Amino acid sequence: MSTSTQDAERQDLESVLFTEEQIQARVRAIAEQVSRDFAGKDLVVVGILRGAFVFVADLMRAITIPATVDFIAIESYGAGTRSSGVVRLTKDMKETIEGKHVLVVEDIVDSGRTLHYLLQLMEARNPASIAVCALLQKPSRHEVIVPVHYRGFSVPDEFVVGYGLDYDQRYRGLPCIGVLKPEIYGAA
Ligand code: PRP
Repeated sequence: MSTSTQDAERQDLESVLFTEEQIQARVRAIAEQVSRDFAGKDLVVVGILRGAFVFVADLMRAITIPATVDFIAIESYGAGTRSSGVVRLTKDMKETIEGKHVLVVEDIVDSGRTLHYLLQLMEARNPASIAVCALLQKPSRHEVIVPVHYRGFSVPDEFVVGYGLDYDQRYRGLPCIGVLKPEIYGAA
């Protein structure tokens, strides 16, 4: 992402919630914890596309134990700024997770429905264990309870973008996380 694109996208932020440095510090801390907890275990990191791709890339490089990486993609029906709750699998993992320790990596847990669906799907495949790692959690929006074992930050009920999170497929390349100006998504 070019600096000029980043600069232009930053202009659309109402505020920066987490700077690049703050995010990277949290990622390192989570990676250290994960590396301790899964030492000696067969760990597979499963990122949920598309939003988690940036977090997964940084996390994988900070984890200090052997781990494999895979991705899964789901889509929620309905456009707009909120997920609809109705989801479908659009890309499955390449690897089998049977007998392995799975770390599911999400960029954000909003209603919790995406994770709820995916955890059920994965549990049916008999992994040795499943843990969830979410960079952001929006507790005020949870509709279903999902376990989050590793969390980066808690966020208020605002439209957040950057570091993988998009609005209309933009802002994913921003190194920070910020609140989008309401006029950008037509809510002003
Ligand atoms: C976002 C985010 C999570 C999900 C969280 O994905 O990446 O996967 O919504 O919402 P929930 O807890 O209410 O289910 P989105 O559907 O926007 O797709 P994307 O990852 O491709 O941006």
